[in-house]
Amino acid sequence: MGGSDFWANPSTSPFVPHFGVSPPLLVGRRSELSALGSGLATGPRDARYCSILMGVRGSGKTALLNEVQREVASAGWVVLAVDASTPGLLDRIVASVDRAEESYEALDVGDRLDTTASKSVGIHLGVLAGKLTTTRRAREVHAQALRERLTTMAVAAQNHGTSMLLTVDELHAVDRTEGRRLASDLQHIIKREELPLAFLGAGLSEMKNTLLMDPKVTFFHRCEPFDLPPLATEDAINGLRDPIATAGGRITPGALQLAAEAVDGSPYKMQVIGDQAWRQAGAPKEQINEITAADACIIADAVYAERVSLPAWRDLSDAERSVLVAVAHLGGQAKPRDVAGQIGSSSNAAADRMSHIANAGYLARASAGNYQITGLVPLSVVLQEGQYHELAAPTSSDVADGSTVPARCNRWMPRARARCALAAGHAGRCRSR
Ligand SMILES: Nc1ncnc2c1ncn2[C@@H]1O[C@H](COP(=O)(O)OP(=O)(O)O)[C@@H](O)[C@H]1O
Ligand SMILES: [Mg+2]
Repeated sequence: MGGSDFWANPSTSPFVPHFGVSPPLLVGRRSELSALGSGLATGPRDARYCSILMGVRGSGKTALLNEVQREVASAGWVVLAVDASTPGLLDRIVASVDRAEESYEALDVGDRLDTTASKSVGIHLGVLAGKLTTTRRAREVHAQALRERLTTMAVAAQNHGTSMLLTVDELHAVDRTEGRRLASDLQHIIKREELPLAFLGAGLSEMKNTLLMDPKVTFFHRCEPFDLPPLATEDAINGLRDPIATAGGRITPGALQLAAEAVDGSPYKMQVIGDQAWRQAGAPKEQINEITAADACIIADAVYAERVSLPAWRDLSDAERSVLVAVAHLGGQAKPRDVAGQIGSSSNAAADRMSHIANAGYLARASAGNYQITGLVPLSVVLQEGQYHELAAPTSSDVADGSTVPARCNRWMPRARARCALAAGHAGRCRSR
């Protein structure tokens, strides 16, 4: 009997409260789209021909990446779209070249040596004849031949008066060896050969502290960085109102204003608020009013904490958490000097850490050398998560005089009601003795 209800309640909400899904209406990205479009249209000599989108979870990196892919594909470009979140990136790019060669027959680099007569032969490109042997070997050694595969395809695209776009999402997570390898191949193909292979990466802002600090990835350093800005309230109003209207729903002006202000700049939160408001009200039958919109905002805050703030908090090291907790205890805004006093480190060490976590979006640089806690992990969540996170003792690298006294881990263990007695950075669990 239970099975009869299984399909009973499909949601009619036009919103997409998830990650990686294109929104019903993309708002607030006009200037980024126009800069990216202009760079791609200009070609390999334009800095923006190779760009990297950066932002926190839910800031809309993937959505913007998808939009650019859609635009260029409709202009006849060949799009290779991969994700760097797991190892094997180079193999995946090679596989996407394989797929592209199959689907864009006009770009066929000749009758593939390893396919028999069954495959219909595309246009033969005379210039490529000499490269075919390399191409076959490339398939066997796979990733090693990435440069040849991309070059061959970019040449074919060029001969057909078109271009290629390679997109790499989750670039912050790229395996370092693969990242370096890809950077060197792209540097060669795009910068040196000036072949029409555009690049668009996307990832968490923390890559400013990691991948982009790696001296062996000059290609990535030279990419145009785009920090995705928070949505303005006006954008949030449009991003909520239009999908509701298109789906046949109604929302009062007061409810719309309230919901848009609660978006707090986050495209992800906007989708969650829209979806919740729709459900709470029972739209499209019922109008969304201020009461249902307010309920939706409360739920959205909890969803945001769970899906964005907590994963972001977990991404931090203990030392970085200590900094955030210290700023929270100082009222949500503080200078490195004050934080240093709280965590027992030198001012320089505190300033370094604060600058790191500001790059990653946890703190914002405010006036007069102050840093302020952002909405990524809001003050309330820092205080809640940090309540068992006693301020860590300084690690040896923080000791100003450079002495090498081994620091204790000192982490507070709520169950044992004691601090960890092991050396800082120890392996395995904390222990009181
Ligand atoms: N500019 C935008 N306008 C409206 N909704 C957006 C916009 N950018 C992203 N979204 C929506 O927000 C959610 C998170 O976007 P996503 O691109 O997955 O973020 P990220 O890749 O930065 O984590 C998705 O549901 C997406 O549809
Ligand atoms: Mg994404």
